[in-house]
Amino acid sequence: MVKQTDSLTRFKPNAAAVNADYSTRNALDRIVRCLFAEKLLDKSKIIIGNNHREALYPLAAGASSLRFENMRRFPADTFINEGNIWLVAADGNETPIIDHERLMDAVRDSLDCQLNEEGVHHFKRDVANSIHNDRLARRHRAGWQADIRQEMAQRGEAHFTLWLRSHHGLRDAATLLDQWGALEGHPYYPTWKSRPGLSDGDVTALSAEFSARVTLRVGALRADMAYCETMPHVTNIHRWFENAFPHLWPTWCEWLVNQGQRPDAWLPLPLHPWHLKHWVRTHYAQEIADGILLPDGPELTTAPSMSFRTVLPTVGDNAPFIKLPVAIWMTSEIRSLQAKSIHMGPRISAVISAILRDENGFNGLLDCFREEAAWHFRHHERKDDAEGKFLSVVFRDTSPWARPDNPLAVTVATLFTELPHRPAPLVSELISLSGQDPQSWFRHYLSVVVKPVLAMYLLYGVALEAHQQNTQILFDEQGLAQGMLIRDFGDGRTYAPLLRARGYDIKPYRWPGILPTVFEDDIEPVRTFVVDACFVSHLHELALCLTRTFAIPDHVLWKVMAQQVEKAFDELRPRLDPDFWLQERDHFLRSPWFTRSLMSMHLQQYTDYRVQHGLTNPLLSA
Ligand SMILES: Nc1ncnc2c1ncn2[C@@H]1O[C@H](COP(=O)(O)OP(=O)(O)OP(=O)(O)O)[C@@H](O)[C@H]1O
Ligand SMILES: [Mg+2]
Repeated sequence: MVKQTDSLTRFKPNAAAVNADYSTRNALDRIVRCLFAEKLLDKSKIIIGNNHREALYPLAAGASSLRFENMRRFPADTFINEGNIWLVAADGNETPIIDHERLMDAVRDSLDCQLNEEGVHHFKRDVANSIHNDRLARRHRAGWQADIRQEMAQRGEAHFTLWLRSHHGLRDAATLLDQWGALEGHPYYPTWKSRPGLSDGDVTALSAEFSARVTLRVGALRADMAYCETMPHVTNIHRWFENAFPHLWPTWCEWLVNQGQRPDAWLPLPLHPWHLKHWVRTHYAQEIADGILLPDGPELTTAPSMSFRTVLPTVGDNAPFIKLPVAIWMTSEIRSLQAKSIHMGPRISAVISAILRDENGFNGLLDCFREEAAWHFRHHERKDDAEGKFLSVVFRDTSPWARPDNPLAVTVATLFTELPHRPAPLVSELISLSGQDPQSWFRHYLSVVVKPVLAMYLLYGVALEAHQQNTQILFDEQGLAQGMLIRDFGDGRTYAPLLRARGYDIKPYRWPGILPTVFEDDIEPVRTFVVDACFVSHLHELALCLTRTFAIPDHVLWKVMAQQVEKAFDELRPRLDPDFWLQERDHFLRSPWFTRSLMSMHLQQYTDYRVQHGLTNPLLSA
């Protein structure tokens, strides 16, 4: 339990100003949040001052402590630092913690985690890189905001989302919104913007938050040196590609014919320009020399999405997203596109499509960006899947955007991002357009998201990774949620016994050393995927954002969420085994919510990729 005490009154505020810029504080706040959520520091040792905002944390040595001037605690062990932090020595002397280096130095001996020098060093370095990139992005954002403000003023439009609706088609608006929402990055990851190895010029030229346009080269991979996976309706890859990229296909064929090659003997292979220059030309030099890979094909202009490595061609109303490997470390991993994703993306897409057809999209609430086709390099003699993880591609169909009702497709992260013309999150504009109070708006939002996500999991054992970046919400003109679109199935987790019981099947991908994603015995990893992505990173963050933006009493939105989760369970009950229903209801409504320990894994240099911690279930507070 958190102790309430008056003892803080003995600490006098230090006269020295704590002078840190926004990005430095951003990093500090993220680290503080992870320290308590991941139990790296023991939250039961926090001593709360009598103004309920000041907090003191005794450090390991016993003599010194940390003093947080203004810390708020929300359900789910969420500690949000909103003020200055001080290191208090035994004699009462205070020094300000002005950056992450000092904070890490102060807490490192108190952390409940095995540390080594290198892990701490890398962590500090990646946080520093995030801070630097965050500053660059915010500088760019100021100019971008001003441009949009001016355009809105010229057209006499007072609402950003209405301006988008009236002057952009759904596809362009969705692209702009996705790039707009890339500013903040992963909500609480302490190295949220680190891109080690990229120059400032590369960061600005290639990242979504800089409204970048990226020109790919569409090379060619010898067809007999590739493994292809497609959804069942794609029977001829070349015809499928021609249909998906009608502008590009003739140019690509002509480029090959001019070199005396037969296009049918090759597969188009889009290459990210950074990856081509810094990785492919050196790491696949042999394949290039052997004539297995022709990298210098025609160009294709694209807009990078929030995930950086998935891009959308700017020409063509129906061109699919292109997901690519880029050998850059981002958040928690080097962004390869491994064989598992190539094999499983189209397979999971096929299963989800069939379920959505049979369930009528859960009353039209859910649709998905299907991964129709994917391929990776696999040498026809060596047959080593691992060789292709940096020479691969996934194509993701955008047909869910082809809708007659003209909704606005907003990537969830964008809801949290500041409007161009007002210092308020975009979600506040949607709420104001709806004319509803935030609680009612949120209730409606939950009714769109919770039911399909829980139904896919409880009925079919399919975990949708509905986190902020993978999910788009369709909003009508009144700012109300109408449905959700989900993407990114390559690492998707499924529970095979449930799928089979309902007449579906999925072939797992197996390779030595690769963690399986089709589970047979325990459903826990599948549940955790749903809880971590949809409940912790998405719904919890939205409740938190609305609670803070509208100064709603702490427990109110959690109560609304608990009611909606209960409602979804009640509706699904007749179709579920009673014991399973009870067990799962308990997990979502009462048991700790398990989520990935992002900071701990980073500090331990990813020696284990499945470290997780249980957060106090915030729905209990309702
Ligand atoms: N708000 C956010 N929440 C989660 N991830 C975010 C967010 N903003 C940016 N990102 C970035 O998006 C990526 C999310 O990782 P994830 O594995 O879901 O996507 P991906 O497989 O790289 O791409 P895609 O979703 O296009 O298939 C990371 O690179 C992360 O840094
Ligand atoms: Mg993703």
